[in-house]
Amino acid sequence: MQNIAVIGYGVVGSGTVELFEKNKEEICRKIGRDCGIKYICDLRDFPGDKYEDKLVKDFNVILNDPDIEVVAEVVGGATFAYDYTKKLLAAGKSVVTSNKELVATHGAELFAIAKEHECNYLFEASVGGGIPIIRPLNKCLAGNSIEQISGILNGTTNFILTKMIKDQMDFDSALKMAQELGYAEADPTADVEGHDACRKICILGSLAFGKHIYPQYVHCSGISRITLDDVEYAENAGYSIKLIGTVKPEGEGKISAIVCLRLVEKNSLLSQVDDVYNAITVRGDGVGDVLFYGKGAGKLPTASAVVGDIIDCLKHKDRRIMLDWEDCTDRGYVVPYKQIENSMYVRIKAENAEALKPAIGELFGKVMYLERNGRPDDELAFITPVMVEADIDSALEQLSESAEIASKIRLL
Ligand code: HSE
Repeated sequence: MQNIAVIGYGVVGSGTVELFEKNKEEICRKIGRDCGIKYICDLRDFPGDKYEDKLVKDFNVILNDPDIEVVAEVVGGATFAYDYTKKLLAAGKSVVTSNKELVATHGAELFAIAKEHECNYLFEASVGGGIPIIRPLNKCLAGNSIEQISGILNGTTNFILTKMIKDQMDFDSALKMAQELGYAEADPTADVEGHDACRKICILGSLAFGKHIYPQYVHCSGISRITLDDVEYAENAGYSIKLIGTVKPEGEGKISAIVCLRLVEKNSLLSQVDDVYNAITVRGDGVGDVLFYGKGAGKLPTASAVVGDIIDCLKHKDRRIMLDWEDCTDRGYVVPYKQIENSMYVRIKAENAEALKPAIGELFGKVMYLERNGRPDDELAFITPVMVEADIDSALEQLSESAEIASKIRLL
C-alpha cells in the first residue's frame, strides 16, 4: 500500500525518504502491514533523482488521493506549510512535521483541527532533531509536575560556538560550515538570533504546562554579541558559554520562558555538549533531573524523528494519539523576563575601572570579580548576586554613567 507522502524535498525531506526506503522492510514489520511512499511533493525539478517517479508539483494530488494516510510536512515556514497542513488535517490525513515555526505559531489551532477530523498531528522532529523528547515528556514523564526544562536547543549555534571557542574559527566560516552540513535554517538569522531555539522552548513549555506559549511573548537573544574576551573570563572562572532555552512555572498558573546566552558551570552536563549536539534537561518533582542528548540537527537525525512519527501514525490508523495543548491568548501567562531573578556576568570598560569597585559594591552588593590573561586596566568583569533582572538593569544604568557596559550574560 502506497500510503505516505512527503512534502518538501530538501535536507530533511530527502533524509526522510532515504531512511524510510533503507529500512522499509523493518518499518513495515513494525507497523504490521505493507506501507510505502507514494509521492514526494516539491516545486523544484530533480532530474535523475532515484525517486523521480514519485515527484509531484501539485499539492492537490496528495490532498485528493484517498490512499494517502499520512503526510510528512518538511517544507518549513508558516505560510504554505500552514495552508497545506490545515487542508490535510481537515481531510482526515495525519500530518507529521519537523516544522517548529509552524507548531510554535499555530500548534493549538492545528491540534484542534486534527481532533475534529480524528487524525493526528505529530511533531517529534520539531525539537532536538533526532532526540526523542516530545514523547518522553508527553508519556513517560507525565506523572511528574515539571519544575523546569532547560537546554541547548539549536545545533547550528552550538556548532558555531564550539568552532569559535575550541578551534578559534571565525564566526562566518563556522556558520558557512554549519550551512554546508545542512544544520542551519534557510535563513540562518533564525538560528543565530535565537528564534529557532525560542520556537523549540515554546513547544516544550506548551506541552509540559498544557497551554500554548507564543514565541512573541518570549524574550530571546542569540549568539551574535559574544566576544572571545567574555569566553576567556568565563573559562577562567569555570564556566562555558552556551545558548540556552529555559521554561519553568512561576506560580499562580504562570510560566517564564527565555532564550539567551548563559554561563554554564563546567562541571554540569550541559557545558559538555558541543558541536551539533543538543541536550535538554527536564526536572520533574518525582524523577528529579533527566537529560536528553543527541544530534539536534542534520538530515538523517531529523529524518529519524520524522520517520518515527510516520510509523506511529500508521500504527494508529483511525485512532487518536493524545499529544496536544490548549490555546492561550492571555498575554499575562508568560511572566515578563525582567521580573525573573538571575545572577549576571557583566563586563565594563572605563578609564580607571578599578576605581569603580566601591560603586559596584554599593550598586550590586557582593560581586565576584573575574580575571583573564592580560586584562587591560580599563576593563572589569564581575558576577552579580542573584537579583531581579529589572534591578540589575537599573543598577547597570547607574553604572553606565561612569562606564561602558560592554557585555552582560546571565548565569544558568
Ligand atoms: N536549524 C536548526 C538547528 C535545525 O540548527 O538546530 C534543527 O531544528
